[in-house]
Amino acid sequence: MTSPLFQTVKLNDTINLNNAIVMAPLTRCFADKDLVPTQQIADYYARRADAGLIISEATIIDPLGQGYPNTPGIFTRKQVEGWKLVTQAVHANGGKIFCQLWHCGRVAHSVYTEQQPVGASAVAWHGHVPRTEGLEYEMPRSLSTKEVKKIIKKYVKAAKNAIQAGFDGVEIHGANGYLVDQFLRQQTNLRDDKFGGSSKKRCKFALEIVDEVSAAIGADKTAIRLSPQAYVHLEYSKGDEKTYKKLLKKLNKRQICYVHLGTFSDHYTFDYLDGGKASEFIRKHYKGNFITCGNYSIDMAEEAIKNKKADLVAIGRAFIANPDLIQRVKSGQKLEEYDMKMLSQLD
Ligand SMILES: Cc1cc2nc3c(=O)[nH]c(=O)nc-3n(C[C@H](O)[C@H](O)[C@H](O)COP(=O)(O)O)c2cc1C
Repeated sequence: MTSPLFQTVKLNDTINLNNAIVMAPLTRCFADKDLVPTQQIADYYARRADAGLIISEATIIDPLGQGYPNTPGIFTRKQVEGWKLVTQAVHANGGKIFCQLWHCGRVAHSVYTEQQPVGASAVAWHGHVPRTEGLEYEMPRSLSTKEVKKIIKKYVKAAKNAIQAGFDGVEIHGANGYLVDQFLRQQTNLRDDKFGGSSKKRCKFALEIVDEVSAAIGADKTAIRLSPQAYVHLEYSKGDEKTYKKLLKKLNKRQICYVHLGTFSDHYTFDYLDGGKASEFIRKHYKGNFITCGNYSIDMAEEAIKNKKADLVAIGRAFIANPDLIQRVKSGQKLEEYDMKMLSQLD
């Protein structure tokens, strides 16, 4: 197999991948009532273990971070035990798996948490909560400085739990308008403490999580997903790109495992991202391992790796439709088309 997608990839001194195709994080809402991953979930991931790397569905680090039904957690003993089923099944099939650490922040909802959501500031998002009967997003409560520090510790605890559960590393979910992204944006971060007020201070929450998680489990096992383009759950404000440039520059100084683009489509260009695509922006400003993502066909993925636009490509929906995606691509078989109806089952 001569495709650059099927060469091994050395991410760092401790992590080597069998190929350059990553299974993107995909929320499936199949955890049990205690937000514990089940054997069915383990079987689902095990079927996809020939991906170079699996990134787990977003996994909440704290009960207050929940914004969708039956999304797994990594903050209780039972959840850690549930995840062991998953990591053991993936490893038994020769795969590697990172845990995506998640806090929804202002787009969490009291229907799941029984408490008012928290955010960088008291700024609500508009619209309706998915998978509910038209519930509106609530006004979040602004976290005190002390509470922000406590949340950073919860990321650390979750990362330690993930390693105990057998994950090969963690990906901090800094993308898609959730809590970390909310701290990075002027629209959602009106703070005047050490976590807001300037680009530098808006980066602090993300960087403290990265640094504390790295100190706890190793920078080689720590990664982050980012959406510099602001495409969901919040909007771009002029000047946000400065914050992202600063953040990527600071990440260059840390030997983390990778940065991963969060988007549904990497086909658009943005005036405010140096006029290019979000992937090009990250590639330009970040010098370490980079995973691109966002509606990549296999041909596009191959082209991206060949031309060094990214080191790895994450594929999402096609992995839902094709558990055997890697085998199909290797043997030149056609891929099944993804259909949203497939979300009702965990095949
Ligand atoms: C059903 C579904 C669930 C998703 N869940 C997550 C998630 O938990 N975390 C995340 O960062 N992105 C999530 N995404 C976004 C994907 O990781 C990916 O960025 C997106 O699907 C684009 O890639 P694709 O075109 O190859 O599907 C989800 C996407 C879908 C379709």
